[in-house]
Amino acid sequence: METLWFNLMDQGFADKNFRFIELDLDMVVKRKIKKIKSSKKISQLFERLQLKPSFAEQNNTLSLGDKYTIASCDLSDLSQFRQVIDEHKINPKLPTFFYAECVLSYINADQVDDLMGFINQNFNLAFVFDYEMYNPSDRFGQMMVKNFDQRGCPLVGIYKYQEIRHQHERYSKNGFKNTEVYTMKDV
Ligand SMILES: C[S@@+](CC[C@H](N)C(=O)[O-])C[C@H]1O[C@@H](n2cnc3c(N)ncnc32)[C@H](O)[C@@H]1O
Repeated sequence: METLWFNLMDQGFADKNFRFIELDLDMVVKRKIKKIKSSKKISQLFERLQLKPSFAEQNNTLSLGDKYTIASCDLSDLSQFRQVIDEHKINPKLPTFFYAECVLSYINADQVDDLMGFINQNFNLAFVFDYEMYNPSDRFGQMMVKNFDQRGCPLVGIYKYQEIRHQHERYSKNGFKNTEVYTMKDV
């Protein structure tokens, strides 16, 4: 499960002025909230930061004041994303950093296009950082695709933008002015 926010807090970013909102599928959010509630390490972190978690069991949300929220959202359904923005009063006028790590490859690429188009049109200043698998066609990619298929989580979103140059296209087509793409080797 994604641990970025907890690591940032642990590493001394707690006094920085930003709001962190994590979205995932309902089933995963449920499991994660359960883990957060039962983890001694996390409750010690909350104590240290003087944060009191509040749970809204009904719509499967956990919040820590204005600092952190985890909520359910199927990102393939734009209406759910819009609803989350409204419900959690996300202000599209503020600079917003969208971060996805190995998520978009599991979603149909047309639906990701809709999502990126929406972000671009509705947020005044949006940065998107995305880390994904690419190139399903070479020998390595074929094996990777097969492995994910066999595990029951097929990479349905990998085919529309297969190569590095297509990643630029994906974002520029959806209105983003600057795109940079690196392979892990470049990094
Ligand atoms: C490989 S995990 C990576 C998650 C995280 N970056 C981490 O380090 O643990 C893929 C994540 O994407 C989520 N996911 C897949 N399809 C999704 C969708 N349609 N909407 C929201 N989240 C989705 C999965 O539930 C899972 O948590």
